Amino acid sequence: MSVESCTRFLRVAAEDPRIRQQMKALTGVEEVIRLARADGYDFTVGDLRAASAKIAAEAARRQAAAPRDADARRDVDDRRDVDDRCDVGDRRDADRPEPAAGRVYHYEYDLDELPGFAPIIDELPRLKIKPPTVDLARFHEAFREEDLASTSLAPSGPEYRAWRDRVAAEEADDAGGAGGVRRDFHLINLDEHVAHPGYDDYLAAKTRVVAALEEVFGAEVRFSGSMWYPPSSYRLWHTNEDQPGWRMYIVDVDDEFADPEHTSFFRYQNPATGELVTLRERPRMVRFFKIEQEPDRLLWHCIVNPTDRHRWSFGFVVPEHWAERLPERS
Ligand SMILES: [Fe+2]
Repeated sequence: MSVESCTRFLRVAAEDPRIRQQMKALTGVEEVIRLARADGYDFTVGDLRAASAKIAAEAARRQAAAPRDADARRDVDDRRDVDDRCDVGDRRDADRPEPAAGRVYHYEYDLDELPGFAPIIDELPRLKIKPPTVDLARFHEAFREEDLASTSLAPSGPEYRAWRDRVAAEEADDAGGAGGVRRDFHLINLDEHVAHPGYDDYLAAKTRVVAALEEVFGAEVRFSGSMWYPPSSYRLWHTNEDQPGWRMYIVDVDDEFADPEHTSFFRYQNPATGELVTLRERPRMVRFFKIEQEPDRLLWHCIVNPTDRHRWSFGFVVPEHWAERLPERS
């Protein structure tokens, strides 16, 4: 096990088309370690952090030494990522409207209505897994009604901020204690569970889904997260501002909701008006939204499954031009 082995793997992963493609389906560090081990590279999470930092520092040094060359190289790399049929390289910074009351911040579709998504529907049974390595009893013990209730508060308001500050103080007091559980993340990240018999089938399905989506969008697509929301689960208010860009989520549940007024939902705060927008969910849907970094454009959002259904969501980083490949929305 070593940083050197990891560094070698990361360099190969950047060049080898097969590994590069597989890496687009991975979001968990344990997944990367498992994939590398299959190819004879052996390293730990700590090694991966150290090797990534080393490679990033080298790249930064190279760019500082020869900014023009680096820009040119990155440009070439970007173009390599894009399918020949769709040259979108110059459109990335176009169309950046100011926050406005009438602006649309999300788009939703039924999975079944989207052209090219049939192969993805076929993969859903292999994606919607419940890894046996998840301790559901322990998971349910971590549920807190007051945390769930915070999703009804406007994140820009004083009540939410007071609650958040109190929780932060409690978590600081608890640091190093027996707790250590993230209160804002009461759900299961499937990509943190690689030591179960179904993982290889799950990974193969994720890899096929990336290929199918790249066919749809004619550009690079990668997973951003694969989440299982068991009954009474939630992801509290957050902005994802460190990962800007368009996000696509495929959302599905294990059965229809009996009551359309009592469903899982995605909620966001309209950056222009402050209004809370609640998007109720149904089986097999697709949602697009854009994560921005500027303070006045942050998209505060949260996800809640207050029902007794199981919900899954599979997130992807999709190209800026995604809408050109899908039917127009009214
Ligand atoms: Fe998010």
